[in-house]
Amino acid sequence: KPDPRPQEETVKVDVVDGVAWVAFNRPDKRNCMSPKLNKQMLKVLEELEFRDDVQVLVLTGEGTAWSAGMDLLEYFREAELQGLHKTREHQRQAYGWWERLRWYEKPTVAMINGWCFGGAYGPLFGCDLAFCSDDAQFGLSEINWAILPGGGASKVAAELMNFRDAMYHAMMGENLTGPQAAAKGMVNESLPADKLKARVQEVCDVLKKKDGQALRATKWAMRRVREMTYDNAEDYLIRAQEALNDFGGWETRKEATKQFLDEKTFKPGLGAFDK
Ligand code: ACO
Repeated sequence: KPDPRPQEETVKVDVVDGVAWVAFNRPDKRNCMSPKLNKQMLKVLEELEFRDDVQVLVLTGEGTAWSAGMDLLEYFREAELQGLHKTREHQRQAYGWWERLRWYEKPTVAMINGWCFGGAYGPLFGCDLAFCSDDAQFGLSEINWAILPGGGASKVAAELMNFRDAMYHAMMGENLTGPQAAAKGMVNESLPADKLKARVQEVCDVLKKKDGQALRATKWAMRRVREMTYDNAEDYLIRAQEALNDFGGWETRKEATKQFLDEKTFKPGLGAFDK
């Protein structure tokens, strides 16, 4: 039966000290993504995006899962009973919030605490950085139930892993442990479960010290240049830096340069300037 709980309960949000901890919150369903959850995630992301008290967003999961992918009952089967229009509506909702995440204004960190399957690769790739627990498990389980890894999942594997690894991952339906996922480039680091949150907090603390406008320009540039030729990237980066200057970039870099060259109070090679 469909989950009767209200949409608002499908996502948990906790803003602490500049960090928005956003959690998939259907632990008893291993945080699989239902249409309600997808709608709520978009709402939550939009609400947090321009809040002054949020500098970094962390996406994690309640319970033993990060997310067990799409909800096979509510996202697939029920839509299929109602016709193509419902399938398309559900796809738009899911792909919509993943896209918002890919181009989020603020830095985003995936904290993968457990199962991460199929459709969950969309938000995994949407997050700029990713840290997982050693006991997390990553899988393109689609092949195990006779579909292909859709919703961008094939693309994510092909983008993050080398070709042979991605092909093996998609065809075999075997899971990767946290350390294996880290070795293959799916996440930045894998850590013992009891050290995961502290490490993510540490990363957030570093990000919070950087200039927010420069961080946004940097993360968007990194995503854009992946698909460009060298010459196009070079040109884009000049324009992106000049656009950054319109967002206070001149003042911040002048201040940083002054702290280094004149006041000698910081070294760019060793950390961020004093905002
Ligand atoms: N869709 C719908 N329901 C799900 C999903 C899902 N993706 N994942 C878990 N659930 C439900 C289970 O049906 C079960 O519901 P119930 O309590 O009403 O019976 C509940 O969540 C708990 O699941 P269990 O299987 O009992 O949990 P367990 O910890 O033993 O196993 C595991 C976890 C391995 C994640 C298992 O639930 C599983 O294989 N889920 C499906 C993973 C998957 O292949 N997802 C789809 C990827 S493809 C795509 O996203 C397009």
